[in-house]
Amino acid sequence: MLAGKRIVLGVTGGIAAYKAVEVCRRLIDAGAHVTPILTEGALHFVGETTFSALASEPVRTSLWDVDHDQDGSPIAHTRLGQEADLVLVAPATARLLSDYRTGRSDDLLTATLIATRAPVIVAPAMHTEMWEHPSVSENLGVLRARGVHVVPPEEGRLAGGDSGAGRLADPSTIVARVESVLAKQPTSGDLGGLRILITAGGTREPIDPVRYIGNRSSGKQGFALAEEAAARGADVTVVATVRRPVSTGIEVVTVETADEMHDAVVSRAPTCDVVVMAAAVADFRPVTTAGSKIKKAQGPPEVRLEPTVDILAALGSSKPTGQTLVGFAAETDSVRQNAESKLRAKGADLIVANDVSAPGAGFEHDTNEVVILSTSGAIEVAKADKRVIARAVLDAVISTRSSQ
Ligand code: CTP
Repeated sequence: MLAGKRIVLGVTGGIAAYKAVEVCRRLIDAGAHVTPILTEGALHFVGETTFSALASEPVRTSLWDVDHDQDGSPIAHTRLGQEADLVLVAPATARLLSDYRTGRSDDLLTATLIATRAPVIVAPAMHTEMWEHPSVSENLGVLRARGVHVVPPEEGRLAGGDSGAGRLADPSTIVARVESVLAKQPTSGDLGGLRILITAGGTREPIDPVRYIGNRSSGKQGFALAEEAAARGADVTVVATVRRPVSTGIEVVTVETADEMHDAVVSRAPTCDVVVMAAAVADFRPVTTAGSKIKKAQGPPEVRLEPTVDILAALGSSKPTGQTLVGFAAETDSVRQNAESKLRAKGADLIVANDVSAPGAGFEHDTNEVVILSTSGAIEVAKADKRVIARAVLDAVISTRSSQ
């Protein structure tokens, strides 16, 4: 399972750093290629020589380390992260979690974490008071929501004779987690060569220059799909109504209204292998848009509405051979039944249905819970981070394409 996998093992400054030696040895025994990065703090607890003797490559400690394999110049701070199949930080101090959360990257380990698209596991270890501090819980919550895996600490003896929650998880537990995370990784590059168009966010239909009819979509699910697709090798374009940070290589086209989204999507779709309509497109828009702000003194305006074009249905009726079309269904009642009728009515290959009224699912949340429907059946995906949902949707796309 771990044979040949490139693992960056980050070690930060805590007494548990000595246990990272055992983690390193186990990873090497299992056949992994381990590159250790020790922070300045870690060097107060463990020696470079110990890790260098055990690992596959010499220990790296600084952004300015010289790379003997690459003509003796400083190693690119991004290289280790880009090449890694997985980055593991054990132990992870409160400082590391905070820097990683905020994107502060002034040492080699944090720069590597920011530069990687590989899965990341952090195994925190610290005193109980620090572990239970809201700042640490909050940082971990944000990292978890971004898809970072956390091996929580255990209860037991801590430095300085204290005992309580905060002791680094056992090396065997940490290595087991590395195995399970890598086992669940899709074959990297399984979407290589595919052009994927994804829509994200809710459209806004203007009433006047300051007011609009909108909805609660945050675009998080669409952008999670884009990131996951890009990480798996696809050539990705997102047509979105919201701006969110994206990895380099993802093209973002910003639109506002259903009409603009229609034009941006319809002009690009014919050359795409996969189109995912994750956006919440308005069904109705004001018949007219006032050119200047409607003043309160004019009294409540009567806003007459007309239907927008159904982009998904339009794509479904002109779908090129070999294209996979994915729609979403935002429902509050009879989820499965409504989604099944959307699958048929709109000519989609897959419909990702979610109950937007369920706790922790749908609009604005970082998590979602969906049923992926196709004409050949349904896959239920339990509540999980939107990136995990994205993974399941793209897995379904791949299996649909293999039978298309
Ligand atoms: N959709 C679209 N164009 C529209 C409305 C919806 O492309 N004008 C797409 C959405 O992006 C989504 C799917 O159709 O992929 C289903 O959207 P949803 O809002 O759940 O359903 P509607 O078709 O709008 O039907 P209803 O609101 O009655 O449930």
